[in-house]
Amino acid sequence: MRLLVIGTGSIGERHLRCFQTLGRCDSIAFCETRDEQRGIIAERYGIPDSMAFASLDAALEQGEYEAAVIATPAPTHIPMAKRLVGLGVHLMLEKPVSLSLDGVDALAQLVEEKAVTVAVGYVHRGHPAMIAAKAALDSGRFGRPLQFRVSSGQAFAVLRPAYRDVYFAKPEMGGGAINDMITHLYNVGDWMVGSIERIVTDAAHQILDGVTVEDTVHSMTRQGSGVMGSYALNLYQQPNELVMTVVCEGGTVQVEYAKKRWSWMTEPGGEWNHEPVEVPDRDTMYLRQNEAFLNAIEGSEAVLCSLNEGIRTLRVNLASHQSASEGQWVAIGQ
Ligand SMILES: NC(=O)c1ccc[n+]([C@@H]2O[C@H](COP(=O)([O-])OP(=O)(O)OC[C@H]3O[C@@H](n4cnc5c(N)ncnc54)[C@H](O)[C@@H]3O)[C@@H](O)[C@H]2O)c1
Repeated sequence: MRLLVIGTGSIGERHLRCFQTLGRCDSIAFCETRDEQRGIIAERYGIPDSMAFASLDAALEQGEYEAAVIATPAPTHIPMAKRLVGLGVHLMLEKPVSLSLDGVDALAQLVEEKAVTVAVGYVHRGHPAMIAAKAALDSGRFGRPLQFRVSSGQAFAVLRPAYRDVYFAKPEMGGGAINDMITHLYNVGDWMVGSIERIVTDAAHQILDGVTVEDTVHSMTRQGSGVMGSYALNLYQQPNELVMTVVCEGGTVQVEYAKKRWSWMTEPGGEWNHEPVEVPDRDTMYLRQNEAFLNAIEGSEAVLCSLNEGIRTLRVNLASHQSASEGQWVAIGQ
């Protein structure tokens, strides 16, 4: 397995490290347009100059790869993905799939023709508490889901100090909390309790210094099988938290990242049953995601988020933006 990581900023570096940790690739090359960053990554991860390229063109001229990670900003995703899939390369494609639907169907068709594996980087599907909660919900032991709620926030300026200087500051590059952050939650909700069918969103810039993109998002949804959903996110609260609650006919399930657990309750006004999970560090969910990707290439497991599921979340992102600007419910297109 020869792997190429394209773009080694924040998430590309994490992918590179996680694939090194998994130890299942014969070689890992990368391309990074910024000279200084390329030097830092090569040195930090012991990658020889001959495998550290300044462009995708150079990487493709000088090497052959079975798989690639696309970890560059969103506007590059579709053109790069088409090029690589055309060469028969399996892809770990970072989220969001794109910022519009242009070229998306053509990519999906090419992926079918070339029979390559494509995973989209909606990584919360790799969080141990999410995996356990999903398995419990799917088992039917709590009955039919009725309500889905998720609330998340973090001190983005502290956790991602470069935010003003990277794509996050520019909507046309995939910036703002809808395309960058709450999209992860839409993807989790869609997976957990059924497809998001319509959405209404309120979004605004409240306080995040040096940018004008939205830092606060509230969405309500209607989802498959009649589930009512609500999603809330900000990028400035002090606690770094994600709390998800799924209320079903016969029980309530909750995931709390900060407490590294999922919990359930089946008696009205009863006690929570806490189920701790192992989350040694932030790489944990990326390791699971990337392991599933390698297994999918070998045919032993499915990717955690398929291209079609990633495209469905792209449609939700687009509808959410439309709703935020028009102030009304928007149906998710097919
Ligand atoms: N799944 C996740 O948890 C997660 C987290 C952060 C970002 N992302 C997504 O990953 C993508 C990248 O985000 P990031 O935070 O790493 O951004 P970033 O700006 O930190 O890094 C992007 C890197 O790509 C490089 N680059 C740009 N164009 C290139 C090209 N043509 N060839 C080679 N290198 C190129 C840039 O120099 C930069 O180093 C975005 O789509 C973002 O939404 C996903």
